[in-house]
Amino acid sequence: MKKPLKYVGYFIAITVLALAVLLSYVKFALPNVGEAEELKIDYTKERIERGRYLANTVTVCMDCHSKREWAKFSGPITPGTLGMGGDRFDQSMGIPGVFYAKNITSSGIGRYTDVELFRLITAGVTKEGRAMFPIMPYPYYGRMDKEDIYSIIAYVRSIPKIENNVPESEPDFPMNFIINAIPPKPVHQSKP
Ligand code: HEC
Repeated sequence: MKKPLKYVGYFIAITVLALAVLLSYVKFALPNVGEAEELKIDYTKERIERGRYLANTVTVCMDCHSKREWAKFSGPITPGTLGMGGDRFDQSMGIPGVFYAKNITSSGIGRYTDVELFRLITAGVTKEGRAMFPIMPYPYYGRMDKEDIYSIIAYVRSIPKIENNVPESEPDFPMNFIINAIPPKPVHQSKP
């Protein structure tokens, strides 16, 4: 092989290798948001009421995870659909993939422990270790007071069960790699 051609060959080989290492790192070593710690939340009446207020008017969990009556002013939640999920966010909205707001009644998230739910809401990683797309606004929730997250969990656990199988979310390429680098480590603040 001619010398310059040999260097081009080396260059390509090294670039391909570096890219493979980088992609494997992102795919298999990330997201790195730490292990879920021990946590058992008391679902007190006070927490459930505080959580009801937060989830419906401040963190608006229920707005995304329920059906809405868009023909009415401000699209109120359709009665009987609270937390059942199913809303689809996709390429038609400029989103890199298809993401579904999940069923957050007990039939959807019954498999989660409190600590796994806490990590999901604040760090965007599912029970199965999948990084979620930040349409689910976990980068903001990770800055809230932990006590308020406990209240949200207590409330979400209290809503009536609705059976509704929501499809898995599917990020497009290259978002299926990038997505693992998105979840930040939560930095909780205290309520004033
Ligand atoms: C702007 C819309 C939106 C808001 C607000 C929102 N979510 Fe989500 N949520 C989503 C989407 C979309 C997904 C799926 C993301 C994915 O699969 O990558 C999701 C996923 C979840 C999951 C995963 C369930 C599973 O089966 O793994 C839980 C639990 C959840 N959200 C709870 C909440 C809670 C609690 C709040 C409020 C603190 C909230 N969400 C606020 C859109 C939203």
